[in-house]
Amino acid sequence: MKKLSIKLGAIFFLCILGLESFMFFFLHNALVESRIQEELNALQARGNSHRTILENHFTPETIAHVALMETESTTDVVVTGTDLQILGSSSANGQLSNNLMLPLKEIPREGVIIENDWETEPFISTVSSLENEGETIGYVFMYQDTETVHSLIKRLNQHFLLAGFLTVALTLFIIALLSKAITKPLINMKDATFQISQGNYSISLPETGKDELGDLAKSIESLAHDLTFLTQERNDFLASISHELRTPITYIKGYTEIVLKRDLSEEERRNYLTIILEETNRLHDLIKQLFDLAKMDQNSFLIEKTEVNMKEILEKVEIKLAPAFKEKRMTLEISCLTDSFLMADPVRIEQIFLNLLDNSIKYSSQGGITSVTVEQRKGQLFVTIRDTGNGIPEEDLPYIFNRFYRVDKSRTRLLGGAGLGLSIVKELVNKHDGTITVKSKIQEGTEFQMVFKGAWSDENNFTSGR
Ligand SMILES: Nc1ncnc2c1ncn2[C@@H]1O[C@H](COP(=O)(O)OP(=O)(O)O)[C@@H](O)[C@H]1O
Ligand SMILES: [Mg+2]
Repeated sequence: MKKLSIKLGAIFFLCILGLESFMFFFLHNALVESRIQEELNALQARGNSHRTILENHFTPETIAHVALMETESTTDVVVTGTDLQILGSSSANGQLSNNLMLPLKEIPREGVIIENDWETEPFISTVSSLENEGETIGYVFMYQDTETVHSLIKRLNQHFLLAGFLTVALTLFIIALLSKAITKPLINMKDATFQISQGNYSISLPETGKDELGDLAKSIESLAHDLTFLTQERNDFLASISHELRTPITYIKGYTEIVLKRDLSEEERRNYLTIILEETNRLHDLIKQLFDLAKMDQNSFLIEKTEVNMKEILEKVEIKLAPAFKEKRMTLEISCLTDSFLMADPVRIEQIFLNLLDNSIKYSSQGGITSVTVEQRKGQLFVTIRDTGNGIPEEDLPYIFNRFYRVDKSRTRLLGGAGLGLSIVKELVNKHDGTITVKSKIQEGTEFQMVFKGAWSDENNFTSGR
């Protein structure tokens, strides 16, 4: 069975059919039993009323009269004496006389049923005893042909069959409708996911309500939406990468050709080779950054967390960047009042600082001041990097963490950035369960603030200025 609707329908149908058969069976049995009981009671009551008449007038005329009354009805009566010899009978053939027999136990006043097996016996029967002043003077046997009972049951069966047939038909119809209603949205979703797998992300699914199916439909739609976004992003990313790679390679190719072909003075050659080296370095950095990002995109990217002393990291960063700050006659102020610790990957934390401080050097004029403040409050580590640089226009702020995003493309190209630094910072901060925010004012400066959880501190003070 391939179709879900058929599978569901078949399961529903079998369950309901089982339940219905069970109920019909019990209902049928109970009805038949109560019908038979009614027949027997009626037979017995009839026998008792004959008894009452006969007890009052136990004469041949009355007996003949009683027998005559029964010839007109579907029941039969046989009146006997105490030795079971027949005094009167409503039946012409002698068949009934063969069935005369008394129950073993005493017959109560209200009479007794002597045959109730309607299925195999030709008659059901009851007997009442005739008494006169405490003495038994005879018996009234009542008989009913089971033929009539059979035809009664047959009619009952026919009704049951009709009802059963109607119920099954109705059940089938309802189940078909229901299983269609349930599987229709599923089939729609299957089609939608097929469309997605074919690369068509512009799907829309009809509203199915606020149930699990509705949730699933919404998830599929948002998946399609995310895929659209991701595909767009991947295309942009590839376009940017090829652009970023092409530019330095064009330079390298051009200058190498010049150096190879022309007769150049030693100084010219040096100049060209220096450019080639710079462009090669730029390519090298770019490829390294791309490689980092690619690794971070995979979930296998590992952060090796150890106890990191922020003071020590900052000392290292300070030593590394001192020449660059000095060259631009800039000041780096570091304030880390207590020895603050964090469970983090020291190499990655250093990379975060290097990227951010590299920007503050690149995008500041000569003589600018950059400050790094590390504070620890309520188990959280607040790291603020503030510079007095060019600032970032407000409309660019939401995008600066995007890959390849640069505020001033032509200018930053001269400064050597590809616009990947901040996106790497953001990824690394996220991998440490931290957050990074930025505030900036044009011509006044920029402030990046990072917050990390789970920090602790020692009480030693540490301040430095350069
Ligand atoms: N401290 C800063 N001051 C001014 N502008 C900045 C600063 N940091 C980043 N920016 C802007 O954000 C853009 C993205 O930064 P980044 O991702 O590090 O790329 P890159 O440094 O390679 O250009 C930069 O091109 C620059 O325009
Ligand atoms: Mg940068």
